[in-house]
Amino acid sequence: MIYFDNAATSYPKPSAVAAAVAAALAGFGNASRGAHAWALSANRTVEGARASLADLFGCSLPERIVFTKNVTEALNLAIAALGGHIVSTEAEHNSVLRPLHRRGNFSLAPVDELGRYGADDLARLVRPDTEAVVVAHASNLTGNVAPLRAIAALCRERGLRLIVDTAQTAGLLDIDAAALGTDAVCFTGHKSLYGPQGTGGICLGKAFNPGPLIVGGTGSRSFSLDQPDDLPDRLEAGTLNSHGIAGLAAGVDYVLACGPQKLLAAANRLSDRFRDGIASLPGLTLYGDYGAAARVPIVSLNLGDIDSSEIAGRLADDHDIAVRAGAHCAPLLHRRFGTVEQGAVRFSFSHFNTEDEIDLAVAALRNLASEVKSGGK
Ligand code: ALA
Repeated sequence: MIYFDNAATSYPKPSAVAAAVAAALAGFGNASRGAHAWALSANRTVEGARASLADLFGCSLPERIVFTKNVTEALNLAIAALGGHIVSTEAEHNSVLRPLHRRGNFSLAPVDELGRYGADDLARLVRPDTEAVVVAHASNLTGNVAPLRAIAALCRERGLRLIVDTAQTAGLLDIDAAALGTDAVCFTGHKSLYGPQGTGGICLGKAFNPGPLIVGGTGSRSFSLDQPDDLPDRLEAGTLNSHGIAGLAAGVDYVLACGPQKLLAAANRLSDRFRDGIASLPGLTLYGDYGAAARVPIVSLNLGDIDSSEIAGRLADDHDIAVRAGAHCAPLLHRRFGTVEQGAVRFSFSHFNTEDEIDLAVAALRNLASEVKSGGK
């Protein structure tokens, strides 16, 4: 299979990831729940993963890296801690929009026809009772990158918390939590950090202390019926996914060794080759700002008015090419682009893809586009 669905979950993973999970399954006890060799082995790996993630996000206190089962849980945890008005954008994923909708008291900055918005659009929505800005670092539909430095400056000026969804950027774009002054960098493990699914977390700023979504055993202060207050235990009730975290640690170490910029540049070269290859296809519509200096390796498109699922089906059945079609959990962007019914065909690349794979995909789309042009399917 030619795999272009890395924005949904990355494939392949570096070989060290599977090896780390296999070793964990063969020799881990329960982290923080014992002093025998296997428990300590799990504990060392979990704490090592915390240290690597702290390194990746420029966080000087590893205990402020808290593991969750995915970025959605991390975002829910951060948003649940906010009492005031929240400013966000129409470019968000449902992992932000649904928690916002459930609590209410938020405003969304509109996006333009390319799915873009600026820090000024957020500033216009700030009210005296605004507490926080919540934004995705990059859109999972368009690949557009948010103006995060300008947003961070706005938050500093206006005394607002900043919560960032890095589902599409952790491991690809530099994220310096301390320099940006973020309150929460929410991340997933299974995309550009190359870990297993079911891993993720949150890098908490020094002045942001959310309460737990769930309480329970931590292996610490067992005689207190209150959840321990110290981090990370306060937010990590129940047995951790240490087998998955072992894989995540190997993925993060791979990213740190390669350098996120290098991985992004390699994936973006392939993404650009793909976009150049399809640029003149009849009936092509692209979604996103492809002239921007910073992008993540995502190209979303439609051909004529063919349903996006049909294109994805033909790519899978006739060419063994995996993409994602339909709605991409970004309903307000689809509304803005007029693709609520048609959806969009999303190609998302990683540095593990090859030029040959790109050229095969271009040729496959060319075939499909010529069918559109001649009116056949
Ligand atoms: N949010 C993930 C995606 O964009 C699952 O496909």
